[in-house]
Amino acid sequence: MQLTDASGRKINYLRLSVTDRCNMRCRYCMPVTGVEKLPQNKILSYEQLFFAASCAVAEGIQKIRVTGGEPLVRKGILDFLSHLSTLPGLKQLALTTNGVLLAEMGPALKRAGVQRINISLDSLHPEVFTKITRRNELSRVLAGIATAERLDIPVKINMVVMRGINDSELVAFADLTRHKNYSVRFIEYMPANKEKGWQKLVVPGSEILERISASHDYMPIEKISLSGPAREYRITGAKGTIGLITALSGHFCDDCNRLRITASGKVKGCLFSDVDTDISALLRAGEPTPVRMALRALVGRKSVRHELTETVAGHKIFAMAGIGG
Ligand code: 5AD
Ligand code: SF4
Repeated sequence: MQLTDASGRKINYLRLSVTDRCNMRCRYCMPVTGVEKLPQNKILSYEQLFFAASCAVAEGIQKIRVTGGEPLVRKGILDFLSHLSTLPGLKQLALTTNGVLLAEMGPALKRAGVQRINISLDSLHPEVFTKITRRNELSRVLAGIATAERLDIPVKINMVVMRGINDSELVAFADLTRHKNYSVRFIEYMPANKEKGWQKLVVPGSEILERISASHDYMPIEKISLSGPAREYRITGAKGTIGLITALSGHFCDDCNRLRITASGKVKGCLFSDVDTDISALLRAGEPTPVRMALRALVGRKSVRHELTETVAGHKIFAMAGIGG
């Protein structure tokens, strides 16, 4: 089976959110008070999540990234991941985490079959890190990254670039790839919770690259088929790579290969789309065929590209924690 959308894009990558809870409060993701939590009984059980994943894999999904909120705060996550990694047909199991619990959970995650880890890291300075995440956890995140590296789990570092807040660290982040096999990805800030004056925070991808090129030479590298919508480059002689996710200014939509399932059982094509399908009742019923048909139908309606820039004034505030990025 192969999920193909109306414009011919092959959908082989599922982002599966297991919780909307988080142990940080990143300012680009949620207001200081946090976001309204899903009631416990709305959150899919692990059994339902596994069932959703198995239907998606039966429909041709080859890569699953488990996200949150923060997936490592959900009880029982290790058993769930172990179970997921046994799904026949699944080629890659990845995890996105804020890294706070990674140092302690890393070895068990490796045993559970997690093959890749994306870690959010927006600053190498403790004060700036704390200002962005509203939690004083930089040292634990750095320890988490070191643990993943020691375990030979490929590490991707996601930096959300914000003007006047952490953009002075662009070159320092690019430098991280020179001696280590990290993949550092610069993400254009998206106005997810419409902070006042958000426009000023956006550093366009073109500017990010220009500023890095002032101190480094780099070359584009070819895409591999299960990779997401980042454009990737390698600094001359570097072990790792840098990448750019130009959510707002770019046209990454053309390469989008992903589908999302939220912790409450909504399937979404585009992160920015209000179109979703609630499959929680189907998941509770436990019949594979209707779930597979719902996934196919949703993919068929997946929008060709998002219109975030145009519709920002109108679009609903969405907490990334609820969708999983
Ligand atoms: N803008 C850009 N990236 C975001 N993320 C979450 N919220 C935003 C936003 N408003 C990304 C962060 C985080 C991942 C889970 O989602 O990179 O690492
Ligand atoms: Fe938590 Fe990730 Fe949102 Fe930060 S961006 S508050 S780490 S879910």
